[in-house]
Amino acid sequence: MNSSANRLTIRRPDDWHVHLRDGAILAGVVPHTARQFARAIVMPNLAAPITSVASAQAYRQRILAALPEGSPFTPLMTCYLTDHSDPDELQRGFEEGVWLAAKLYPAHATTGSAHGVTDVANIHSALERMERIGMPLLVHGEVTQADVDVFDREAVFIERVLAPLLRAMPGLRMVFEHITTAEAADFVMAAGENVAATITPQHLHINRNAMLVGGIRPHAYCLPVAKREKHRLALRKAATSGNPKFFLGTDTAPHARHLKEAACGCAGIFNAPFALESYLQVFEEEDALDRFEAFSSENGPAFYGLPLNAETVTLERSAIEVPGEIDANGTVIVPFHAGETLRWRFVG
Ligand code: NCD
Ligand code: ZN
Ligand code: ZN
Repeated sequence: MNSSANRLTIRRPDDWHVHLRDGAILAGVVPHTARQFARAIVMPNLAAPITSVASAQAYRQRILAALPEGSPFTPLMTCYLTDHSDPDELQRGFEEGVWLAAKLYPAHATTGSAHGVTDVANIHSALERMERIGMPLLVHGEVTQADVDVFDREAVFIERVLAPLLRAMPGLRMVFEHITTAEAADFVMAAGENVAATITPQHLHINRNAMLVGGIRPHAYCLPVAKREKHRLALRKAATSGNPKFFLGTDTAPHARHLKEAACGCAGIFNAPFALESYLQVFEEEDALDRFEAFSSENGPAFYGLPLNAETVTLERSAIEVPGEIDANGTVIVPFHAGETLRWRFVG
C-alpha cells in the first residue's frame, strides 16, 4: 500500500461475489465490475442456472464477449448446486479449471434460487467429493422455513445447517457469503482456516432502518436483509480487523428499477459502479485505511489459492456524486448510494 493523506494506491482488488446476469443487461453491468476489479467470482443463479461444465463455459464466453475492448478482467465461474448435482461433473469442471467453486442456494431463499437445494442431505455426496478435492463451497446462508423470522434466518442457518455440516465434514472449504450478523462473524472467526466470509458494502453501511424508516425503500432491500445496528457494527469490526478470513465480495445484484419499485420488489443491490469508493469510506471511518488492501486484494486470493494481482489501482480523496440511476445497456438501474456524495474517487 502506498498512501498519502489524499491518495491511496493498492494492489488491484478482486470481487469474490458478483451477479453479472445474462442477455442485454450483461454488457451494461460487466464494465462496472471490470473497471475496478481484476477478477470476480460470478454467481450462477441465472434464469437457467449454471449446473453443467458446458453451460459454465458458454456463460464465461458470453461474459468475455460483453467486456469493453481490451479489458483484462477475468471472470471466475461457479456451479449451481441442485438436489441432483453429480459429484463427477463437479469434479470435472473443477479439475478442468472451468469453475473454481460451487454455490449452495437453499431453495427459495433468494433471487434465482428456485432450483436450489431443498435439503443439504440431498447433496451429501457432492459435498463429500468437494471436501476430498478441496473445491470450495460458497453458501447463501439462510433457512427458508416459514416459521423462522426473516431477520433470524441467517443465525438459524448456522445452528441448523452450517455447524452440523462442518462437524460432519471438517475439511470442507467454505465461504459464508454476504454475512449480515454478529453470529455469522463470530462463527467464521471461531471456525478453522478452511472457513471464510465475504462482506458487502451495503451491510457495512446500512442497518434495517434504511429499508423501513420514513417509507419502504426497495433499493435498500437485498438478501440476506440488513439487520439491526449492532450487527452492522460487528461486520464493520470484522471487515476492518485485519483477520484474513474476511474479504471483499460486493454481491452486486442488478435489477431493473421497475422490478424493485414494485408491489413485490426483487432482492438485490447494484453496488458495482462505486464499490471501492463505498468500502474505502468504511475503512476510513473505522480508522483502518492500512487494512483496506488486505481485505480488498489479498485475503481472497490467499483463501482461493490464487496469485495476487500485480497491477495497482489508485483512489483519491475527492467528493463524487453517485447518480440517481444508471443505464445498463437499456435497463435503468438505481445504484447503491444513489444521490449521495462519497468521499473517495476511483482514479484507475
Ligand atoms: C441476489 C440476486 O439478485 O441475484 N440478490 C440479493 O439480494 N443478494 C442473490 C443473492 O446473492 O442472494
Ligand atoms: Zn445470496
Ligand atoms: Zn449474491
